[in-house]
Amino acid sequence: MKDSMTYKSSLAIDTICVKDKKVEQSGQAHILPLHATSSYSYKNIEDSIDVFSGKESGHVYSRFSNPTISEVENKLAKMESHGMDTESCCILTSSGLSAISTFAMTMLNTGDGVLTQPDLYGGTTEIFHKIMAKYGVSMHMIDLTDLDLVEDTLKKHPAIKVIYFETPANPTLGCADIAALAELGKTYGAYSAIDNTFATFYLQKPFQHGVDFVLYSTTKFLNGHGNSIAGAILANDPEHRQALWTTMKLLGTNCNAWDAWLLHNGLKTLSVRMDRHCQNAQTIAQHLTDHPMVAHVNYPGLTAHTSHTIASKQMLQYGGMLSFEVFGGMPSGIHFMNATELCTIAATLGNVDTLLLHPATSSHLNVPKDVRENSGITDGLIRMSVGIENVNDLIDDIDQALSGLS
Ligand SMILES: Cc1ncc(COP(=O)(O)O)c(C=O)c1O
Repeated sequence: MKDSMTYKSSLAIDTICVKDKKVEQSGQAHILPLHATSSYSYKNIEDSIDVFSGKESGHVYSRFSNPTISEVENKLAKMESHGMDTESCCILTSSGLSAISTFAMTMLNTGDGVLTQPDLYGGTTEIFHKIMAKYGVSMHMIDLTDLDLVEDTLKKHPAIKVIYFETPANPTLGCADIAALAELGKTYGAYSAIDNTFATFYLQKPFQHGVDFVLYSTTKFLNGHGNSIAGAILANDPEHRQALWTTMKLLGTNCNAWDAWLLHNGLKTLSVRMDRHCQNAQTIAQHLTDHPMVAHVNYPGLTAHTSHTIASKQMLQYGGMLSFEVFGGMPSGIHFMNATELCTIAATLGNVDTLLLHPATSSHLNVPKDVRENSGITDGLIRMSVGIENVNDLIDDIDQALSGLS
């Protein structure tokens, strides 16, 4: 890196992931410093006035901005719009859910509607149902893979201002057509916003498909080590950044420097981790497909998966998440969860180690059985966040756990 630019656009994503900002003076820290400070001091009142008035850029108070956080935001923005002529901008927040609530509070007004899918992350559904509904924002939940239905709904409800979606979705890994939803949004005057947590920009670049906003729980694959909670909102219009930043600053949904620093550290290995997550998940999905105790496997990398074609169009690889249904319903599901030795039962996902979730007794515990079963969330369904361990060890563990089922 020869010039003072932090990240040249010609660099590949793998390189940008690894590099820290080039030092401006000899003897500076090689790795991004952690600025554990709540506020910033000024040499004199004139400098203070310049920064407060916006005449000079600078940090004032860490709820507004912080040098460690700004550096991570800068890096995420570069990577999200990688390969594009336009640059995106990023706001880091205290969690994935605070990214979503900050976005919703900024972009939606009383009387507006949100068009979304039933299989959203549960916390996101609750934000729209329990918080945004109090401010007069309505929610329309439909199957977003049915584009005729999407168009009909947008026509019937002109108050819809945001199409909000997740692809691949949790836990059945169904994929929606990003470009088609963004296009329909533009036609009917609605912004499109995607939660790209499962894929990350390494596998899927929604801005290239015309989406207006990309949101993350960076807690998952972007951090990758299960030691930081944070979220990000990316926009490709600087005016949106200003509006989002104002909400973040006033609601106090800002990230803290330590979690941002941990995220930055995790990002360095994103490309190698994601390649391995994807390879392992593909191998395990194929292995499970042939297993006599497995009824079916949900993984977009399998040609038989209903979303394989659309996933192949918009993803570089198929990700590290899969789910599968064991024969024998609830007793088999419970048995499998207890019988694995290498995999860990945990509510999160995207860590370097393999994690298991049994949706029927956890994330979907309060969803009526017939409703969840209609969406494919049966008693025997297991969600697996495939880690980067040696895949043969994982397969041995899965096989020994499945061998106890009858
Ligand atoms: C797809 C998705 N989005 C958002 C969230 C919320 O993120 P956080 O836990 O960082 O608030 C989660 C959490 O599991 C998630 O899976």
